[in-house]
Amino acid sequence: MIEYPSVVVVSHPLVQHKLTLMRRASTSTANFRRLVREASLLIGYEVMRNLPLEMVEIETPLETMQAPRLAGKKLCFVSILRAGNGLLEGMVELVPSARIGHVGLYRDPHTLEPVEYYVKLPEDVAERIVIVLDPMLATGHSAAAAVDRVKHAGASQISLACLLAAPEGLRVFTEAHPDVPVFTASIDRELDEHGYIRPGLGDAGDRLFGTK
Ligand code: URA
Repeated sequence: MIEYPSVVVVSHPLVQHKLTLMRRASTSTANFRRLVREASLLIGYEVMRNLPLEMVEIETPLETMQAPRLAGKKLCFVSILRAGNGLLEGMVELVPSARIGHVGLYRDPHTLEPVEYYVKLPEDVAERIVIVLDPMLATGHSAAAAVDRVKHAGASQISLACLLAAPEGLRVFTEAHPDVPVFTASIDRELDEHGYIRPGLGDAGDRLFGTK
């Protein structure tokens, strides 16, 4: 197996079990959606493991104490449309005060390069810790372009959270953004000639939204 220094495979048994259920072709849209939400809670826990804490004085019902709370920069989740929205719900449950950005990209049929059709980021994104959400890191081009956009807006502390990654996509993404750690539940075998991750779980957007 190739080693990617900035890639964390979230190997927690609960994540791996849920991923297996998601991969099954027989899993219904309702269950797929629920599983993605549950997995995003667990992956989010890993992505946010190193958030800085600061000590503050609080009053418990019994006494005054120094207690830790999240310090400094606030969070922003950036969903790559449309499948990124599947990971959003669990992340927002973990950090309800986070801001949310969206990036929409399509692949130009001639150049095969990602073309931006929608971007909306919080005005203060440059001051936030950004977690970009893209369940399927396939070619890596969309995620790399979305991170380009977020960096262009001034953000400097960025992570990418996904469910599955293809080795090809990881190579493209980590070469483009060696400073951006990638959190994934699995590195699958390969990307096929249609751009699907194999063995994969199919089209994440179609499975989440029931569009096929
Ligand atoms: N996007 C998907 O939804 N699935 C893949 O396998 C690859 C990209």
